[in-house]
Amino acid sequence: MKTAQPAQVSHLADAPASSAPEPSDTGATRSNRALAQTGIAARLDARPIIEVRNLRKEYPVEDETVVALSRVNLVIPKGQICCIFGESGSGKSTLLNQLAGMEKPTRGGVRIGGVPVSRLNERELAAFRQKHLGFVFQSYNLLPNLTAVENVAMPLMFRGVPKAEREKAARGVLRRVGLGHRLNHYPRQMSGGQQQRVGIARAFVTKPEVVFADEPTGNLDSKTKADVMAMICAFAREFHQTIVLVTHDPQMASYADRIVTLLDGNITSDCLNVPASSVSSTSPVVPASPNAPGTTVATGKGVTL
Ligand SMILES: Nc1ncnc2c1ncn2[C@@H]1O[C@H](COP(=O)(O)OP(=O)(O)O)[C@@H](O)[C@H]1O
Ligand SMILES: [Mg+2]
Repeated sequence: MKTAQPAQVSHLADAPASSAPEPSDTGATRSNRALAQTGIAARLDARPIIEVRNLRKEYPVEDETVVALSRVNLVIPKGQICCIFGESGSGKSTLLNQLAGMEKPTRGGVRIGGVPVSRLNERELAAFRQKHLGFVFQSYNLLPNLTAVENVAMPLMFRGVPKAEREKAARGVLRRVGLGHRLNHYPRQMSGGQQQRVGIARAFVTKPEVVFADEPTGNLDSKTKADVMAMICAFAREFHQTIVLVTHDPQMASYADRIVTLLDGNITSDCLNVPASSVSSTSPVVPASPNAPGTTVATGKGVTL
């Protein structure tokens, strides 16, 4: 298989939709069409930014094979806050890892902005992530010996931004997340919620096209959870970024534009979650497979799952 050239990687924002083959008429593409008929469409770009095709991931464990993802098809348009929802062990983190190029799929592939991330080599992937992707982790993943400003400035350092400039930018984003009074604090001197706000500032400081967040509120109390989700969504709306949010928590899922539910490595439902103010009636229900169990209904902020 041909490997993408780094030059192609560096032009994600300009990658024409035609650089990826036309998606087949999967549940996900039907969902995107349905989406275009709602108020959400106004802030979404019609172009898909993430395309997942026939994705399968197996893990060999002793003499067995664990099928973590069976055959996943998914198209995410630019600007969407898409939640991958499901119980523990359903395959959410595995899917996110394949999307972000952290692991190679057993079968199928992932394209981001037309770039086949699942075929990039390590060096190309590192460059791609630095330039186009941001990450928010459940355990924050801050460097303990760096202050809040230094942690947030780190991705800009990798991009070669001079120290004064990157620290100025980091201070700006930290103020945006309400940490203007904690700029020079170390992670151990901050609460979990404050550390996660530093993590969010770090993910967004480079204004990446796509931000992946795996259970970003998993270690937080419910009030802090809501603040953290509101912050992620506010940044995404402001900069027209695409968010892939992994969670098992219905309250967190309710912040998303779309909720894709996984069960045993398969998408079992794919539905819109339109705020009540945008659409007068309940948004369309889009089963992702002909044998999707039950009915999933998105009802504004309250999600019945
Ligand atoms: N590295 C691995 N080796 C073997 N099995 C794995 C590995 N990673 C995940 N799995 C298995 O794949 C399934 C999906 O896991 P995961 O994607 O972590 O689920 P979730 O994030 O939804 O909790 C689980 O059965 C898990 O045990
Ligand atoms: Mg997980």
